[in-house]
Amino acid sequence: MNDKQSYQWKEMTMGVCYYPEHWEESLWEEDLDRMLHTGITVVRIAEFSWNKVEQEEGRFEFGFFDRFLDLCEEKGMKVIFGTPTATPPAWLTEKYPEVLNATKDGVLYRHGGRRHYNYNSPVYQELSARIVEKEAEHYGGHPAIVGWQIDNELNCETSEFYSEADSAAFRVFLKGKYKTLDALNNAWGTVFWNQTYTDWKEIYVPRTVLNMGINPHQHLDYFRFLSDSTLRFCGMQAEIIRKYKKPGDFITTNGMFWNVDNHKMEKDCLDVYTYDSYPSFAFGLDRDPKTADDLNDRKWTMHLNEVRSICPHFGIMEQQSGANGWTTRMEGPAPRPGQLTLWAMQSVAQGADYISFFRWRTCTVGTEIYWHGILDYDNRDNRKLAEVRDFYQKLKSIDAVCGAENKAAFAVVKDYDNEWDTEVDMWHKRVAYRSGKEIFQASELLHTPYDLVYLQEDSELSDLLKYPVAIYPHPVLVDEKRAGFLKKYVEQGGTLVIGCRSGYKDMNGRCVMMPQPGLLGDITGSDVRDFTFESPAEEPVWAKCGDEKISMPLFNDILEPLEGTEVLAVYGNNYYAGKAAVTERKLGKGRAIHFGSTFSRENLNWLFGYLGIKEPFADVIDAPETLEVVMREKEGRSYLFVLNFQADMEEFTLKRKMRLMYTGEELEGMQSLSAYGTAVYEVLDLQR
Ligand code: GLA
Repeated sequence: MNDKQSYQWKEMTMGVCYYPEHWEESLWEEDLDRMLHTGITVVRIAEFSWNKVEQEEGRFEFGFFDRFLDLCEEKGMKVIFGTPTATPPAWLTEKYPEVLNATKDGVLYRHGGRRHYNYNSPVYQELSARIVEKEAEHYGGHPAIVGWQIDNELNCETSEFYSEADSAAFRVFLKGKYKTLDALNNAWGTVFWNQTYTDWKEIYVPRTVLNMGINPHQHLDYFRFLSDSTLRFCGMQAEIIRKYKKPGDFITTNGMFWNVDNHKMEKDCLDVYTYDSYPSFAFGLDRDPKTADDLNDRKWTMHLNEVRSICPHFGIMEQQSGANGWTTRMEGPAPRPGQLTLWAMQSVAQGADYISFFRWRTCTVGTEIYWHGILDYDNRDNRKLAEVRDFYQKLKSIDAVCGAENKAAFAVVKDYDNEWDTEVDMWHKRVAYRSGKEIFQASELLHTPYDLVYLQEDSELSDLLKYPVAIYPHPVLVDEKRAGFLKKYVEQGGTLVIGCRSGYKDMNGRCVMMPQPGLLGDITGSDVRDFTFESPAEEPVWAKCGDEKISMPLFNDILEPLEGTEVLAVYGNNYYAGKAAVTERKLGKGRAIHFGSTFSRENLNWLFGYLGIKEPFADVIDAPETLEVVMREKEGRSYLFVLNFQADMEEFTLKRKMRLMYTGEELEGMQSLSAYGTAVYEVLDLQR
């Protein structure tokens, strides 16, 4: 067990999301039997069914779920029980409209959707605490239950809150942080445009201002406040459930959404983190055509990677099993034969030991009649059910992989302050998004996987020292503590790489009056003498690095090396041709590289090569870039996942003898995977 989770699955487990309230009770038994026959041993239930327990304020009836849980016990089905706070009852929102969330203009979100409540309403907190307490007290000891899910997808639908209760709570949050209005005015730079506050009551959560002229420092605190509110709401429920749950039962929630520090939530409130994986969003008919080149469904690996940084051995609470679609949006194609398995194996490859499909049967009523499950409305056996059954066989054949660690070639460093600053600063967002996407793509296509490491209050140097190379793409906001941490990493042998736009803000998002990269200059030994976005009217900027030409896209820091710093590349064109583009400084046992632009697939190809981290599995497998290659390791054994996201057959070469775990066959040499095919091998002679 690691320090990020207190629950871990002991064997590969398959589940499904089920809604007993959607179906006649007479169907329950047949449904459970069919699930068990398919290999499904866990159902997640109850997360939208407050009314089934409290139909009138203060009158509680437990019979409905008692009957379902008893049947599960009889059949040997295990249950994850969801608390129902994502969808408050109509009687509640009607009587207490102050529990509703609002738009930025103060218009309330009315009953009918979901997650339309706000975290800070004292009434909602009280009524939520009461229903959670009643459910946990009543069902907590039930033998069928193995875990609890808090709410559903905290911060999904919207992750911004603008109710009156939120403004009141924001003031409390700010008083706690700044103590005085003077300190707040200073931190927020309210002198600009005469925004100075003279009374706490003048402060609100951000409201509509003319022409997007928002105060970025206020917004940065607002995002911190949103995270804090989410964590408090989640923590309140976790604390109640912990009083009643059986020892060994876990508490989780299903993410992963915005404006919340998921790492802190996992650490402070949960035993294990679960994720909802819907790779078919990549093929949605309403998708942004601009993202069509971003590896489509393979991109879910990037999200799963992030989940692994929150909780190394996570679960998938909702794994896509059918086509996407609400009646109002998100329409998309059904998974092709093989794709359902591919997406589930993608989750397993990245660290999931529990796969729960969404959902057993497509709902026949409501907004989600097109969000398809395993079974269709007609309830007959179909190809998806057959594929889930086959996936189960595959999953059990790789049981040995449960709890195995992913093998990464380098770390990508992130932190929430910078993450949230990208939400309020378009300059920051442009460079951060571009680099994030390109680093992922380069890592995928060059089979050079990375782990994400989030810098948190309690981060330990050993978290980062595990990796020989750490790329912190654009640490715009930096404080002494983080700079000191990174310096130690380098001094103790790490290679730190930072990109353009580093170190020019403090933690309030105020620009610092010092040469860039600010506090990081002490590590990189570089000085930014000039900087600019690329001009779309000019030819793309490039740099010369020995005989190689590398791209320096989007934004350029024009560097000057300080004493003892080497120049690795110089700009080849534009008005700064001949000036330093990439520098390297040796420090202690390590080195720091300042890369003067955003990262691209192409310049990373050079950088990975220069740093000696490229294609760590090259002596084991020779695979084209179209295949995803992932290695997991446990107890001295290595497991190799090869995933084909293409609609065509793909070939590759195994350079070692391996055992195909699905069948037990020993293989070496040329292999192929059919369209959307997957394979998991145990490497038999890794040391050769
Ligand atoms: C989310 C939810 C589910 C369902 C699906 C499809 O992941 O958690 O309840 O709504 O989306 O929309």
